[in-house]
Amino acid sequence: MKNICVVGVGYVGLVTGTCFADLGNRVCCLDINAERIEGLKRGILPIYEPGLAEMVKRNVQAGRLSFTTSYEEAINGLPADFVFIAVGTPEGVDGEADLRYVRMAAESIADVADHPLIIVNKSTVPVGTGDWVADIIRAHQKKPIPFSVVSNPEFLREGSAIQDFLNPDRVVLGSLDREAAAKVADLHLPLRTTIMITDLRTAEMIKYASNAFLAAKISFINEIAAICEALGADVKEVAAGVGYDKRIGRTFLDAGIGWGGSCFPKDVKALAYMATVHGRHPQLLQAVMDINTDQRRLVVQKVRDCLGTLEGKTVGLLGLAFKPNTDDMRDAPSIDIAHMLQAEGALVKAYDPVAMVSAARVLHDVVLAEDPYELAEGCDAIIVVTEWNEFKQLDMARLKRAMRQPVIVDGRNIYEPETMKAYGFTYRGIGRGYNGCG
Ligand code: UGA
Repeated sequence: MKNICVVGVGYVGLVTGTCFADLGNRVCCLDINAERIEGLKRGILPIYEPGLAEMVKRNVQAGRLSFTTSYEEAINGLPADFVFIAVGTPEGVDGEADLRYVRMAAESIADVADHPLIIVNKSTVPVGTGDWVADIIRAHQKKPIPFSVVSNPEFLREGSAIQDFLNPDRVVLGSLDREAAAKVADLHLPLRTTIMITDLRTAEMIKYASNAFLAAKISFINEIAAICEALGADVKEVAAGVGYDKRIGRTFLDAGIGWGGSCFPKDVKALAYMATVHGRHPQLLQAVMDINTDQRRLVVQKVRDCLGTLEGKTVGLLGLAFKPNTDDMRDAPSIDIAHMLQAEGALVKAYDPVAMVSAARVLHDVVLAEDPYELAEGCDAIIVVTEWNEFKQLDMARLKRAMRQPVIVDGRNIYEPETMKAYGFTYRGIGRGYNGCG
């Protein structure tokens, strides 16, 4: 059993802290947002993540997990052997990552720490930040106390973050201090996975390269989808056929509206920025981003093609979150799509199973519906924006009866073109050959 402090109770911090507690460690999660911490003390989570609330409750009851706003309490109270930094790194000017929260965390840790520490950085930070954090800590210490910095990038997907933490494909640890990295590796031994130890900058780069590759895979299949539409092939089967090749793999080859969320958009941009600043020409990354922006326009274009004009039409968005099993609206395609529809004079309605509250904060002049059938009422078209499971088995006859015109643009290819045609819908998927687009 080790004592761990986790700074930041967002997706990464809360999942990391709770899972380490579940593995038998004593964990204190810290956040400077008092409202979040008060909520957590009462069992109210600041985020929606399947299975996390139960896990938090179990570990709080077992006395392994606690929450505080005090660095003094979190670091010296336990006392912590490890401090994980898992704070946000929002997008700054020109795509450069904004490191103000990392800086604040490093300064606060240095201010209070009264014993040797291993500081583990989980936040996604520009390559070289680990060295910068070490400099900040050194500069802020009141007296020299030994410490090491280890980079431990996270590969957690929202919606399946607990599963991803407990069953990782690999754990990457970067440090110039091999002994410190080995101690962090020990924390991960119960996960029985490959543990890779590198230098700091390489570990930081592995994170960016991983997200950029996954984003590129999606943009690749979206470009193939556009070509499939032109040539009459079905991208779903193309992806399956291509994916059987073990060198390629089937995952992250679902064509659709493209990628959003708090990670891919920010990380691809930040990597391109780092490359440009260092005199490189990241043309592939640029194309990956351009294709992704086009996908959002494409669904609006498909609705326009079906209806002739968007002026005075009512369009329903089925799903709002950037992907299923989360209420996260950060860089959700639904936001851009709603704006584009409204700019052309359409009335936008919307429904999402869990993201209605977070969506209401960022969507304006959008009519929020209680369920998919209420959404359909009076709609000239529905766009499937998020592939929630509950949308896959809707009563299509009822949905069609409620609509003014039976047009469905399936931005996530969750329905089959033939079935939808049999129901009498005008159906457009993404890259579904002549059947899905003609
Ligand atoms: C992503 C990575 O998958 C994680 O490994 C990483 O740790 C995380 O970013 C991060 O950097 O923190 P996440 O943003 O939660 O995780 O979501 P993904 O499941 O990767 O999906 C990203 C976007 O790609 C979503 O908008 C999704 O709809 C889209 N997507 C995904 C597709 O359009 N097609 C696909 O085949 C797969």
